[in-house]
Amino acid sequence: MDSKSYQDHFFKKAKIAGYRSRSAFKLIQLNNKYKFLKNNINILDVGSFPGGWCQVVKEKIKGGKILGIDKKKIEEIKGVKFLTGDFLDEKSKSNIINYFNSNIDVILSDMAPNTTGNKSLDCIRTNQLCLDILEFSKEKLSKKGVVVSKLFMGEEFEEIKIKAKKNFKKIHFFKPDSSRDESRETYIHCSELST
Ligand SMILES: C[S@@+](CC[C@H](N)C(=O)[O-])C[C@H]1O[C@@H](n2cnc3c(N)ncnc32)[C@H](O)[C@@H]1O
Repeated sequence: MDSKSYQDHFFKKAKIAGYRSRSAFKLIQLNNKYKFLKNNINILDVGSFPGGWCQVVKEKIKGGKILGIDKKKIEEIKGVKFLTGDFLDEKSKSNIINYFNSNIDVILSDMAPNTTGNKSLDCIRTNQLCLDILEFSKEKLSKKGVVVSKLFMGEEFEEIKIKAKKNFKKIHFFKPDSSRDESRETYIHCSELST
């Protein structure tokens, strides 16, 4: 399937399923593989606009708290709390911490900066966001928690791998089928925080 047909395929599939984004299928595939969406857990979804991942989370789990944050305002989803703000701001981080009032069980990030057209710059900026998520997770994730974050295959890949290995006992990389073959996008799944 060429890139356009591929995008159309998942666009139609998302529309039929009632998801706000094609990305919803990436989270479904990630969860099929690693099974981190469980009942009664606290979940943070960073870079959640327009809300496809939060729709999937809400569908899959009962109980616990679900918080989504994005720079863009997100249309309401029943049972999901949204914050509008830049995750990198300390204020946003303290709003997140105050909302959960305890450690977080699952941290998801599909964050991607606005594309500039310059592939290496976009790659560096996306990977910097991934490193920031790993740093935040080290502080705020519960001991048996899980982090899933988008990254791009590029120069910073090794740095991400080293940081993840330092902080977690188990790390895996997975590219869902719903992520275009030619895209350098992939996802890291980290579990079991190191002490
Ligand atoms: C690929 S979209 C996420 C799609 C989402 N997972 C879904 O299924 O609907 C990436 C999002 O990351 C957000 N983003 C990028 N940098 C951010 C930051 N520093 N803080 C918060 N959101 C950010 C963008 O605004 C964008 O909406």
